[in-house]
Amino acid sequence: MTINQDIARNVELLGKRSGGLKPRVGIVLGSGLGPLADDVTDATVVPYEDLDGFPTPGVGGHVGRLLLGKVSDTPVAMLHGRAHYYETGRANTMKTPVRTLAALGCETLILTNAAGSLREDVGPGSVMAISDHINLTGVSPLFGESGDGKFVNMVDAYDPALRARLHATADSIGLTLHEGVYAWFCGPHFETPAEIHAVRVLGADAVGMSTAPECILARHAGMKVAAMSIVTNLAAGMGDTGLSHDQTLSVAAVAAGDVRKLLLAFLKDWPA
Ligand code: HPA
Repeated sequence: MTINQDIARNVELLGKRSGGLKPRVGIVLGSGLGPLADDVTDATVVPYEDLDGFPTPGVGGHVGRLLLGKVSDTPVAMLHGRAHYYETGRANTMKTPVRTLAALGCETLILTNAAGSLREDVGPGSVMAISDHINLTGVSPLFGESGDGKFVNMVDAYDPALRARLHATADSIGLTLHEGVYAWFCGPHFETPAEIHAVRVLGADAVGMSTAPECILARHAGMKVAAMSIVTNLAAGMGDTGLSHDQTLSVAAVAAGDVRKLLLAFLKDWPA
């Protein structure tokens, strides 16, 4: 099966199971952000196993199901569970899921993640809108892609108008929304303090192991992207303690409440 056949089959199956729901916004839930799935009303839930080319997420905090339904009356397709580059050594593990969302009709993709902060003033529990990224992995999810469409323009990859709306929404609900540059490290090990020092000099505000490949895939598929990080820790060498995935999950679970409120308000009265 080619990837296009996989996507066509996925679109057909999802259309049948959801009674023809046409999602306008795709949402990817990051580590610890699972509770956001509870905000999808009239949800049709499809396990990734039922879909072609979808990964089996193998990381704690990531399930593996697609929800079709509405958030604040806006039709959405939510990916509850993502796969990461470090799980397979392939950067394109989210290619079919992202393209399936585009083929379903999603014009926008909202990416969420847990990240380490490089800024003392943006501590654990903070929420940060991503303004740009630095890809430190040396790989692309578009390796091997045919056609000239693969030369994706990455200027304003994180849509400035959507970001402005995200800030306006945060203001309207009294939430402090920081903004910064996200550096994509391959993981699964955390960074060394020397690496953190280096990327601070390069202009990064946060670090993490996801999101950038999905942004590249979404831009290639013609979707607009908005992304936000939940800061779960100060980056390596900045705090008193070492880093752990348990900490990522527990802090993200607490801050998930803020992201949840922000998304509910953001998706209300979604522009025509
Ligand atoms: N580094 C990389 N990924 C992360 C971190 C971090 O400090 N925190 C949460 N995800």
